[in-house]
Amino acid sequence: MTNKLKPNWTGDDLLSRFVNLLIQTKPIYQVMKRQARQVMIKTAEKNGVHWRQTYQELESSGAKGLLSDITNPSVGYPDYYRKPFHAYEEGDLCWQAAFEAIPATYVRALRVWPQENLSGESAYERLLGNFYQVLDEYSPSLVKDVLDMGCSVGMLTFPLHRYYCQRQKTKVRTVGLDLSPYMLAVAKTVDVNGDISEWIHANAEKTGLPENSFDVVTLKSVLHHLPRHATRNVFQEALRVLRPGGCLAIFDQDPRSPVLQNLPPALFVLLKSTEPWLDDYHTFDVEAAMQEVGFQYKTTVASDPRHRAIVGIKPS
Ligand SMILES: C[S@@+](CC[C@H](N)C(=O)[O-])C[C@H]1O[C@@H](n2cnc3c(N)ncnc32)[C@H](O)[C@@H]1O
Repeated sequence: MTNKLKPNWTGDDLLSRFVNLLIQTKPIYQVMKRQARQVMIKTAEKNGVHWRQTYQELESSGAKGLLSDITNPSVGYPDYYRKPFHAYEEGDLCWQAAFEAIPATYVRALRVWPQENLSGESAYERLLGNFYQVLDEYSPSLVKDVLDMGCSVGMLTFPLHRYYCQRQKTKVRTVGLDLSPYMLAVAKTVDVNGDISEWIHANAEKTGLPENSFDVVTLKSVLHHLPRHATRNVFQEALRVLRPGGCLAIFDQDPRSPVLQNLPPALFVLLKSTEPWLDDYHTFDVEAAMQEVGFQYKTTVASDPRHRAIVGIKPS
């Protein structure tokens, strides 16, 4: 066991700087990127996650036809967002990233319990189940409006909507918001019953949504995609759109996780090569930032072996 605050392959440690140097060497980076992608696809196929099939189904689904409708032409893309992510040169701004987001989410969930022979879907359900326990404890007793910021293709938005509808025993208004219109076009395609009230193309730093209009705001696996100044802005915006007593619930990598701290070198090098803001995230005091913008910090829970849930409440 280890009590370190973060892995020594992130931040300013010697090991971290050495890995960064490798990644900054273009030909080495290209090889790593390809390798990272192959590892994902291999894990998927070995574990019954239908990577290629999902891609093909979405490609022929008509999602592409939704792009112009869903795109808000007044939305600009900050520099931090235009970096390559997850081995996609155009980051989240491309169809390949959007068509692979569902199987990639299952593969990441499988990595949480590698010894347990779970399917991708059941690993993901388990991961969300642990997050719901935290949500249940800190959400206001009456939840009418839920906002999933950085919703991507809706891998949290849909189950979150079902979770709150069951909890409240009534229909809840759930909104998904993301900066990638490609991801949103896929989300809308998957939302065949129109369960989600709106899929909004916007920057979570400045959503344009009315103030005091949501009871819960979620940020799942978004913070490690942001530099710290953007995270602060997103917190400020979450505080503005939440009603007093409303809850901001974060789910993301846990820098204190012994599993992450002891990742084999081959894996942490691949991980870093596909996540440009990981050093910033692992060295950022998320709880302090939340409090600085005005949230009442409630808890940080290691919700599974790799992730933590963090909750803040907007003071009444
Ligand atoms: C790793 S994905 C997580 C998606 C989803 N929450 C999930 O858990 O499956 C990160 C998402 O955050 C979105 N994102 C990153 N920066 C954003 C910003 N400033 N505003 C809105 N969305 C953003 C990306 O487009 C991407 O879809």
